Order: sequence, then C-alpha cells, then structure tokens
Amino acid sequence: MAIVRPDSMERITTKALADAFIDEQVAAVRAQVGDKKVLLALSGGVDSSVVAALLIKAIGKQLVCVHVNHGLMRKGESEQVIEVFGKELDANLIYVDATDRFLDLLAGVSDPEQKRKIIGGEFIKVFDEESSKLQGISFLAQGTIYPDILESDGVKAHHNVGGLPEDMEMELVEPVALLYKDEVRVVGEALGLPHAMVYRQPFPGPGLGVRCLGAITRDRLAALREADAILREEFDKNGLAGKVWQYFIAVPDVKSVGVRDGKRYEGWPAIIRAVNTSDAMTATIEEIPYALLHHITDRITHEVEGINRVLYDLTPKPIGTIEWE
Ligand code: XMP
Repeated sequence: MAIVRPDSMERITTKALADAFIDEQVAAVRAQVGDKKVLLALSGGVDSSVVAALLIKAIGKQLVCVHVNHGLMRKGESEQVIEVFGKELDANLIYVDATDRFLDLLAGVSDPEQKRKIIGGEFIKVFDEESSKLQGISFLAQGTIYPDILESDGVKAHHNVGGLPEDMEMELVEPVALLYKDEVRVVGEALGLPHAMVYRQPFPGPGLGVRCLGAITRDRLAALREADAILREEFDKNGLAGKVWQYFIAVPDVKSVGVRDGKRYEGWPAIIRAVNTSDAMTATIEEIPYALLHHITDRITHEVEGINRVLYDLTPKPIGTIEWE
C-alpha cells in the first residue's frame, strides 16, 4: 500500500518540532528493529546522512553503514563521511574505496546513458558484495523521502542511480519517508549534523561522472574536482552558496590552445553552471557578479592543472537540461 502523509501532520519547521519527530521515530525504529541489525548505504547526501544520524541515535552499533566511494565524489566528500560518521558519531562504518573498479569500467565509455548504467550497476554490485560479507542483517534502511514516493511514477527513474536491488530480502526501515526535503534538513540540524552537510546542494547519484563529459579520464576528472572545489569555496565565501540552488563545473572532452608562462599550453575549458529552480523541471540562470566571475576564472586557470579557459553557461532549462549529460 502506498505511503500517504496524513493531512494532520504538521510541517516540521522548528527545532522543537524536529525533536518531537526524532523522539517519535527513535521509539518506532526501536520497536521495529528490536535487537536486530540494520544496513544502510550512506552516500553522504542529505537524506541518507539524516537517516544514519537518526538510526545511530536509536540503535547505535546495530546500524551498519556502508559508504561506497565510486571515485566520482566531490572533493572532500568521502573524507567528511568518515570524519562525521566514523569518528564524531562513532558509527559502525564500512568504507569501500571502489574508485579503480568504477574508473576502469568507465574507461573509453562516452555514451551518457551507458555511463549511468555502469555506475548504477557497479554500485549495486559493490554494495551487494559488502552486505554478503556481513552476518545477521535483517533490515535495510533507506533515505526515502516523501517527494520520492510522490514522484515514483517513472518520470525520474533514471535519477535513482544509487538505488539498491529490489530483490534484497530485507525489511525496510524508512524513518523520513513522510518528510519533505526542508523538513529532513531541520531534523538533520536537530540531530547535530554539520550545517554544510544538511544544507548541501543536490548532487546526482552518478556524481562527477555526468560532469566529466564524454569518456572519463583520471586527469580530466581530477581537474574537474579541483575546479568544482574552487567554485564551491568562492560561492561559500561570497554568500551565494545558500542562495543558488545548484552550481557546478562541467569539463568537456575538448582541448584548446592557450599560453602559460610564455609557452603553448593546451587545456580543457571549465564550464560554470549556476541555476535556480524550485522543482528542477525548469531552471533560470543566476546572475553572478562579473567581478566574482573574473576572480573564479583567475583562480581556476592558475590553480588547476589542465584547465586553460573558463566559460559561463547562460542557458536556461529548457532548452538546456541542468546537467550536461
Ligand atoms: P537535468 O539535468 O535533468 O537535472 O535538468 C535535473 C536535476 O536532477 C539531477 N540529476 C540527477 N540526479 N541521478 C541523480 O541522482 C542522475 O542521473 C541525475 N541526472 C540529473 C540534476 O543534478 C538536477 O538537480
């Protein structure tokens, strides 16, 4: 039966409401799970992070988190998962660095749909392998949120690349399934998760894989990751991080001629995309101040190996989708 949010359920907007929700869910999870173990794929995104923090509070070490680093994470993301969940919250965390597996499989593959399929399929494989090494797991926790349920009509099926195999024979634990995104964030803050983790911008499951355009190479992926980190740092510093809905760099598989230190310097362009939207179905372009664009260009072209130009994508959606592939 479909899960339906009752009309009487108050929107969680304050710490007090979040605390009450947390107490309720802690009790419900304990009642559901008893002394059994629960497995969670922890991507480091908002939803799975909030579920992890909630379950750690409810059942502590009975929760086993598996973080698969597919090598397509943004700079510092896997490190943050290890720091926050492994160290600060002392979670039962299994960290799998599967970078080589993913990048080897993706080598030479330029078709976007094929890339997505490989990333999604390999993710399931790695997660399956890890979970089969574990004993006595009875439940699978998921960061399903209410819009996922409302949208499970197929429109965005291709977006759920991090989805898990449907034949996993485990009962589901979905403590935030009735919440909207803004409520998940309020709950995350009430649970003490870092602001940057709770308020981070959306990030596609296939990660930088859909922004390292065409066939992914390690050097171009590394350049993309560094350029993206600079963009995020500058948006943070200049008050745009909380204002712009999604912003990132895409690096196409194209080189142009440049000049550095008086010598010919061939490099890739870094394309900045910064969009505002409410539902990701349409999007408008953020008007980044020119001075900031110049500063970001200066930093990226000086600090990132392999990048010799910076472009700003002015295309709204439609006609351009938010991601490039
Ligand atoms: P597009 O590019 O379709 O993106 O305008 C709309 C929103 O969806 C995100 N997106 C994805 N998310 N897996 C995801 O989890 C994907 O394969 C994927 N493709 C796009 C995109 O970042 C934007 O927020």
